[in-house]
Amino acid sequence: MAEGEDQSGLADRLKSALDALGLANKAQPKDNYAFWSTQPVSQFGEEASTSSSDNGPIDTPKTVADIRQAPNSLPDNFHWDNCDIDDDKQLTEVYDLLCQHYVEDDENMFRFAYSPEFLRWALKPPGTRSEWLCGVRVTSSGKLVAFISGIPMQTRVDAQELPMVEINFLCVHKKLRHKRLAPVLIKEITRRVNLAGIWQAVYTAGVLLPRPAAEAQYWHRTLNPRKLVAVGFSRLAPRMTVARAVKLYRLPAAPASPGVRPMARADVPAVAALLARHLARYRLAPVLSEAEVAHWLLPLPDVVHSYVVEGEGGAITDMLSFYTLPSSVINNTEYNTLKAAYMFYTVAATIPLSKLLNDALILAHTTGHDVFNALDIFENGEVLRDLKFGIGDGKLRYYLYNWRVGKTLVPSEVGLVML
Ligand SMILES: CC(C)(COP(=O)(O)OP(=O)(O)OC[C@H]1O[C@@H](n2cnc3c(N)ncnc32)[C@H](O)[C@@H]1OP(=O)(O)O)[C@@H](O)C(=O)NCCC(=O)NCCS
Repeated sequence: MAEGEDQSGLADRLKSALDALGLANKAQPKDNYAFWSTQPVSQFGEEASTSSSDNGPIDTPKTVADIRQAPNSLPDNFHWDNCDIDDDKQLTEVYDLLCQHYVEDDENMFRFAYSPEFLRWALKPPGTRSEWLCGVRVTSSGKLVAFISGIPMQTRVDAQELPMVEINFLCVHKKLRHKRLAPVLIKEITRRVNLAGIWQAVYTAGVLLPRPAAEAQYWHRTLNPRKLVAVGFSRLAPRMTVARAVKLYRLPAAPASPGVRPMARADVPAVAALLARHLARYRLAPVLSEAEVAHWLLPLPDVVHSYVVEGEGGAITDMLSFYTLPSSVINNTEYNTLKAAYMFYTVAATIPLSKLLNDALILAHTTGHDVFNALDIFENGEVLRDLKFGIGDGKLRYYLYNWRVGKTLVPSEVGLVML
């Protein structure tokens, strides 16, 4: 949820000052992580290193032959089932589970509502494996009650490039919570990924677990103030009226940069090269093939929006992208969904980043989004405030499985977006 809509920035300035003094109300680790303390992840209390030469695997090296063939046991009346999302019925089952039971904000006002088309896009990139879309069903009814996914992603951490998976969409039905099913899902996907000879993973979460490789901050830019106030996403500061907010957040009807146009299939090689050069600047970044760039960036209506800037002679000089992730609005009589745009991969090579991101805001607005969300990763932190983003109350933590990062990453060293 957005804070500080009055734009006085007082809350932000106070928070920054407290952060600088180390006095902000920072999340504290739990005393005991019964599951995560047994896993090959960096632990709290480990001596911090200042060098990326201390990066490396945590577990003792294994081979596929060391990995057990049998799945992890589930309680009676539950069984494992791979979800085939090319099958509309199974896709709908995954969608329904996530739509009703996936991530909510702290005040339980909004819940992510990934669309079926989005899930197909997010879960079926090149190289994907059916056994990495891992569901749990109730045997007697067949009902899907838990899910976890992995997708392959070649990932670079500092100088090392590793075949990893991105783990996402961990979800347990609300009635089955707090029964230690999540660790079973995590162990099972780990086993399946290990059987493919992959030993590292990257994942993100809002919760604090042992131990983040990086912690990023969410920022929100209001596009539709009237609706954001009506659904309780934003609060109007004293003396601010809806009419004033509408004026404050008004955007032009068309992007300001000349040559901005939707990305087309013929742009894939140029975009892949542009993106690769850009991502080389970050300590944590994906290494994308042209097939992956095509998959992740070619526009899909109401899923991913990508634009390139075509310079003189047809060269692709810059690019921007964002994805659509609606949230269900819980218990609101006027609206049932909030349409949010999330910043994806953007390369400002010849255009100032603030101008390119402002074009992204304009394009998100004209395509009906209510709010534009971005993390302070990449160089975003330098421009978000000027573009009228307000700081959110959520953090996103990046974690690596079986890979120690000697020196913790600051957000501006992160070049990876997870959906
Ligand atoms: C996240 C979720 C699957 C956890 O299930 P649960 O029933 O609450 O927890 P369980 O009893 O099964 O397991 C608890 C363990 O899972 C860990 N855990 C909780 N959330 C986690 C997450 N997002 N990622 C990894 N581990 C997590 C806990 O820290 C705990 O381990 P610990 O003892 O080492 O601390 C469940 O709360 C859920 O579906 N929430 C909504 C969707 C969501 O937030 N998904 C995660 C998105 S990042």
